[in-house]
Amino acid sequence: MISIGKFTLPHGLMLAPMAGVTDRSMRRVCAECGAEYAVTEMVSAKALVYEQASHASAPAKTAELCVISDSESIPVAVQIFGSEPEFMAEAARLISTGTYRAFSGFKAAAVDINMGCPVKKVVGNGEGSALMKNPDKIYDIVSAVSRSSVLPVTVKIRAGWDSESINAPECARAAESGGAKAVCVHARTREMFYTPGIIPDIIGKVKASVGIPVFGNGDVTSPEDAMKMIRESGCDGIAIARGAIGNPWLFAQIAAALDGKSVPQPSSEEIVGKAIEQLRLSVADKGEKRGVAEVKYTFSHYVKGMRGATDARNAIMTAASSAELEKVIKTVYGIDENHLL
Ligand SMILES: Cc1cc2nc3c(=O)[nH]c(=O)nc-3n(C[C@H](O)[C@H](O)[C@H](O)COP(=O)(O)O)c2cc1C
Repeated sequence: MISIGKFTLPHGLMLAPMAGVTDRSMRRVCAECGAEYAVTEMVSAKALVYEQASHASAPAKTAELCVISDSESIPVAVQIFGSEPEFMAEAARLISTGTYRAFSGFKAAAVDINMGCPVKKVVGNGEGSALMKNPDKIYDIVSAVSRSSVLPVTVKIRAGWDSESINAPECARAAESGGAKAVCVHARTREMFYTPGIIPDIIGKVKASVGIPVFGNGDVTSPEDAMKMIRESGCDGIAIARGAIGNPWLFAQIAAALDGKSVPQPSSEEIVGKAIEQLRLSVADKGEKRGVAEVKYTFSHYVKGMRGATDARNAIMTAASSAELEKVIKTVYGIDENHLL
């Protein structure tokens, strides 16, 4: 069990942030399948602040990423990235007070700070995982953000920058001193990007170094992986990213395993129904064209492991409408095209 601010997560199960993936439709289906907490796609603090200052009629694409809809049933943190404490603090103020000009739909549960992004463009600006090169800066950023946010502030770090500088415990302590209320540790260095295999003992080392709750993260794709991570590291919760794409049931399965219950498996009809539900949520939120385009990556994961998955994936990627996507997934799972789901 983990508490973040006024929220309690019974099994500590988090849908980890993923740019281009953890939008409102993804968060909603994961919440229905047992996720207890979620984090938005990362949002540039600077872009949010500049957008706020721009003309009232200018588009507000960055703010849109921060909107949490009323139909979301679990607490959702908005994740920001940046390197300048003033911009990060101002972005956190906007998010935590819900005063953004273009939307009234802000109801974030927490502000999360990205200290793990490995992308060249991001680290080249001293943002994301580059912050781990300088724990003093982590302290400065977290304390500035904590001062200006009425919501709890959390951080997401990696094991370190590279194999020569594995300093997650030091960075987590700096964040805790600055006021962070929880830390999520992706057990890879920046140098490792997303290559398979994590550094197994780093999560436990962070757990031993701080008093705040620790989420373990990296390569959890089954209840067994989650149980192993908890057993070996003593972490308070588990953050799942790629394992939940096309498989939101993973959360309920881990919860069942933690409760000593039998692990439920979704039927073909449930899988198809959930994929179609996510597609429809995406389209309702973003319109047919954008909703279809932006759900395709996740949608293609619902056919994983099925006979004909490669052809189905190609058909998904070239589909021009939601009707086409629905037809592809029904065909793969042998469900009649006219069967209403
Ligand atoms: C497509 C994709 C986008 C991601 N975007 C973010 C992000 O915006 N912020 C962040 O902190 N981590 C991001 N991550 C990292 C994940 O949150 C997670 O730390 C990483 O994938 C390891 O967990 P996993 O093995 O469960 O996937 C992203 C990962 C992927 C695959």
